[in-house]
Amino acid sequence: MSYFNDKNSAEIVNARMGAETDPRLREIMTSLVTHLHAFAREVNLTQDEWDHAIGFLTRTGQMCSDERQEFILLSDVLGFSMLVDAINNRRPDGATENTVFGPFHVANAPIRTMGDNICLDGKGESCLFEGRVLNLDDNPIEGACLDVWADNADGFYDVQQPGIQPKWNNRGRFITGADGAYSFRGIKPVSYPIPDDGPVGKMLGHLGRHPYRPAHIHYLVTAPGYQKLVTHTFVGDDEYLESDAVFGVKRSLIAPYERTEGGDTVWHSRFDFVLAPV
Ligand code: BEZ
Ligand code: FE
Repeated sequence: MSYFNDKNSAEIVNARMGAETDPRLREIMTSLVTHLHAFAREVNLTQDEWDHAIGFLTRTGQMCSDERQEFILLSDVLGFSMLVDAINNRRPDGATENTVFGPFHVANAPIRTMGDNICLDGKGESCLFEGRVLNLDDNPIEGACLDVWADNADGFYDVQQPGIQPKWNNRGRFITGADGAYSFRGIKPVSYPIPDDGPVGKMLGHLGRHPYRPAHIHYLVTAPGYQKLVTHTFVGDDEYLESDAVFGVKRSLIAPYERTEGGDTVWHSRFDFVLAPV
């Protein structure tokens, strides 16, 4: 047997794994160690640089709490969340595409009636959202649940401003009827920075990157017999559309926003969600 050196390092570490190791864990850890060691060799990582990285990861962990998940944010800004999402949500043509879930979803939002206004703080430019939930054959899906969440006109989610915004501001769940249609009132989405007061925000600064996400509204669409859809729709003329801090934009998710004449909202946006079968 040979001892550890800078060339055989990954092999030596991987050979140490026990014979009883779960096969999937073996596959993942073998590949992780191989790529991690290759990375350090490729960039000739210095001791100072590795110490700095350990400090960064430590601060990232220390920033995490029940309200703040800095590691997910790190995964998001590295494009890793979107890569894992893309690998796990390859869908047939015609099905609506997934995008990043983000940290601001809250389970069990109030069930609302079609047409309801989810904007509870009275801020922003009003917008009527409507469309249908369809299957791949263009038939309506009855009983689909459309769980919606968005930031307010100041660019904050209600959970970022407890006591300032009303609870459940810009959130709600809508259940489709036989026609698969949905409609609700909200506001035309505005762009906002992801939380950038921690180590991830600092890292973005060092990399010459801004922390903004283009204006969007989130949807989690579920229906029995169909794949769960986690997505957003984006506003087409947003200045950050091509530089989303978390790489969540897909062309097919850019929705039309039209100014309305004489209606009770300023904007109108129509978008159909197409679910793939399980
Ligand atoms: C969001 O769109 O809510 C979001 C996604 C990733 C990181 C931060 C926020
Ligand atoms: Fe968001």
